[in-house]
Amino acid sequence: DPACAQFAGKMTKVILVTGASSGIGLALCERLLSHDPEGLQLCLACRDVQRARDARAALLASHPTAHVTLVQMDTSSVSSVIGAAQEVKRRYNRLDFLYLNAGIMPNPHFDVKAFFRGLFSSRIVTMFATGGGGILTQEDRVTADGLQEIFMTNLFGHFLLIRELEPILCHAGLTSQLIWTSSSNAHPSAFSVDDIQHRRGTQPYSSSKYACDLLSLALNTHYNKQGLYSSVTCPGFVMTSLTYGILPFFPPFLWTLLMPLFWLIRILTNTFTLTPYNGAEALLWLFKQQPESLDPQAKYQSSTSGLGKNYTQPRKMDVDLHMSEVLFEKLLQLEIEVKKTLNNSSSDITVL
Ligand SMILES: NC(=O)c1ccc[n+]([C@@H]2O[C@H](COP(=O)([O-])OP(=O)(O)OC[C@H]3O[C@@H](n4cnc5c(N)ncnc54)[C@H](OP(=O)(O)O)[C@@H]3O)[C@@H](O)[C@H]2O)c1
Repeated sequence: DPACAQFAGKMTKVILVTGASSGIGLALCERLLSHDPEGLQLCLACRDVQRARDARAALLASHPTAHVTLVQMDTSSVSSVIGAAQEVKRRYNRLDFLYLNAGIMPNPHFDVKAFFRGLFSSRIVTMFATGGGGILTQEDRVTADGLQEIFMTNLFGHFLLIRELEPILCHAGLTSQLIWTSSSNAHPSAFSVDDIQHRRGTQPYSSSKYACDLLSLALNTHYNKQGLYSSVTCPGFVMTSLTYGILPFFPPFLWTLLMPLFWLIRILTNTFTLTPYNGAEALLWLFKQQPESLDPQAKYQSSTSGLGKNYTQPRKMDVDLHMSEVLFEKLLQLEIEVKKTLNNSSSDITVL
């Protein structure tokens, strides 16, 4: 790659962002390039090649000299993640930052009754800030690999990616950072170590995000000594295609009409960040920190004040070290199983 050769010898940081084709992931890339237009090599890992190309073109329009490459990766597919990781290892001999941001909340159901119950209760602010109180449920599907789709897309695809990229993430004497886009909708009550894929419940999204919080803790336990650090962020409530999907019958312009109400709510809860730019605040803030100084039990929350000022707030996560270890062991076990199945079913992985 001639572009890589151009960067050879310079102290550039290599950053891979999953789900960079839209929303918070794309806004993060834009902000990273504005922060340091020359010193970064950005790799956008996206499932849809055309959307990835459009994202790259948009980034290059505002940062023409930036180094931005693409890799096709569908985090809901075992073979796609493994193929993409091979390609990334072929291109780069080290990765400084891995943003684990791709995520879905398909077929969401908005429980109007639970919403109105929350509206007239003392939990109103928490409900708006976290989407808790059972107001959001989803219908999950099973992937071609036989895994629950939300678990696979949001969590396990990323776990496999980290495991595959280990050789370029762990370097003696240097640090690398994993940065998760979790959610304040990550509720321990939605997660069970006996059903890590959430086959049996109605809140697979919340379960998958809580599992990200737990996994981040376990990754710190296992990888810090190899220079690899993991942190969790929450972007706040952001208007993206994911949020528009909550009320599919509600056209985007009606959401725009609700903006004055949202600005009012923002005065009560600074987690109503609303724009992808604001939502990417904590993700960018972490990029500027020394990983050793970060709290492995904190969720770094993007926040926007009533006057529109962005800042990052650490919040203690409700995570337990023992449970994080149990989850980690189960994910390692599942990794062995899916790789065995993959090796049996096909010997050639397509690298696009
Ligand atoms: N918006 C919020 O209020 C909010 C709150 C808390 C957490 N989050 C989290 O923020 C992250 C980004 O979401 P967003 O709000 O920015 O929504 P978005 O605009 O829908 O972005 C989601 C990104 O993930 C990608 N993606 C989805 N499934 C994928 C797959 N199987 N393989 C690879 N990429 C995939 C999408 O790709 P396509 O372009 O191909 O669809 C897109 O780039 C998610 O993890 C979400 O859970 C969002």
